[in-house]
Amino acid sequence: MSGGLRVTVTGGAGFIGSNLVSWLLRQPEVGAVTVVDDLSTGSAGLLGSDLPEVDFRQGSILDEALLTSALSGADAVVHLAALPSVPRSVADPLSTHHANATGTLQVLEAARRAGGPLVVAASSSSVYGAQPALPKSESSRAMPLSPYAVSKLATEAYLGAYHACYGLEVLPLRFFNVYGPRQRAGHPYAAVVPVWIDAALQGRPVTVHGDGTQTRDLTCVDTVCEVITAAVTGRVVSPWPVNLALGTRTSLRELARLLGEVLGAPLRIAHAPVRPGDVAHSQADPARLRELFPHVRAVALREGLHRAVAWHQAQPAAGRRPRAGLGERP
Ligand SMILES: NC(=O)c1ccc[n+]([C@@H]2O[C@H](COP(=O)([O-])OP(=O)(O)OC[C@H]3O[C@@H](n4cnc5c(N)ncnc54)[C@H](O)[C@@H]3O)[C@@H](O)[C@H]2O)c1
Repeated sequence: MSGGLRVTVTGGAGFIGSNLVSWLLRQPEVGAVTVVDDLSTGSAGLLGSDLPEVDFRQGSILDEALLTSALSGADAVVHLAALPSVPRSVADPLSTHHANATGTLQVLEAARRAGGPLVVAASSSSVYGAQPALPKSESSRAMPLSPYAVSKLATEAYLGAYHACYGLEVLPLRFFNVYGPRQRAGHPYAAVVPVWIDAALQGRPVTVHGDGTQTRDLTCVDTVCEVITAAVTGRVVSPWPVNLALGTRTSLRELARLLGEVLGAPLRIAHAPVRPGDVAHSQADPARLRELFPHVRAVALREGLHRAVAWHQAQPAAGRRPRAGLGERP
């Protein structure tokens, strides 16, 4: 590739990052994509046939020299690298802080050294924490309940401060529950949709914590990639955080029903006690997103689940048989 925008993606070998790299490579405006990833939770394999098309730098965002070289000449940085788990942050707050908060600061410093590429970064709906208002508006007070949520609040606050102090163009985006192809199950911090799909495909019964009336604003990864791609190609700037979700509200019961339909067999549900710290309801106010990205299209949940299931079915896995089960991980 030559000419066109040069984009660096931190965390580009992760679930969202690897999808984003595919999106970016398809844009005529994008000339080159560099990925920085230490493969701590991601995998180069997720980049698949895109891997030879990118400049892949294996290493940590805490490595200053690596970042300096990976951001040199970049027009935009999409900063997704993080340890993305609430329970992991509760078990080990310091490593979450290092990767997520200090890591963001390192990315911003490298952006400054690189002459000011646009910095788009992933924050999280977890910053709302104990905030009871629904839907969650960016103007509501953040009330984080975990070290992970604090690290994401630091991420977006650092972007705002670098805009104010150094004029850096930034866009902090609050992701809600993102799901879709390339989101893996089979690790202790896996999310609800891949865990359910994997269990169902293997005929295992899985668990819903509580009665399943909890609701989530499930966002297909393709919507997230569409917004970030539009932000990069259109150089969209906001010093204040923007919710990246479309204001849908799906109960876990409804998710189970839909997933059963997509898989062609109803899921078996085993109930377990509610987990401490679980948020009952999460739904974004998408007004600001729609203002900045009026053309963003929502992927219907059924369609998004079809895409996720198709990806899981294409993965090699021993002992799979088409039965259904159910479990939960917000
Ligand atoms: N998936 C969601 O529902 C969701 C919701 C809210 C926010 N987010 C945020 O979106 C971003 C991407 O999340 P994801 O779901 O794709 O997770 P992921 O774990 O698949 O991706 C994170 C990537 O960052 C890499 N990484 C971690 N620490 C690093 C470091 N120090 N240096 C370099 N690379 C490092 C990992 O190897 C991985 O490839 C994260 O910042 C996460 O906090 C995700």
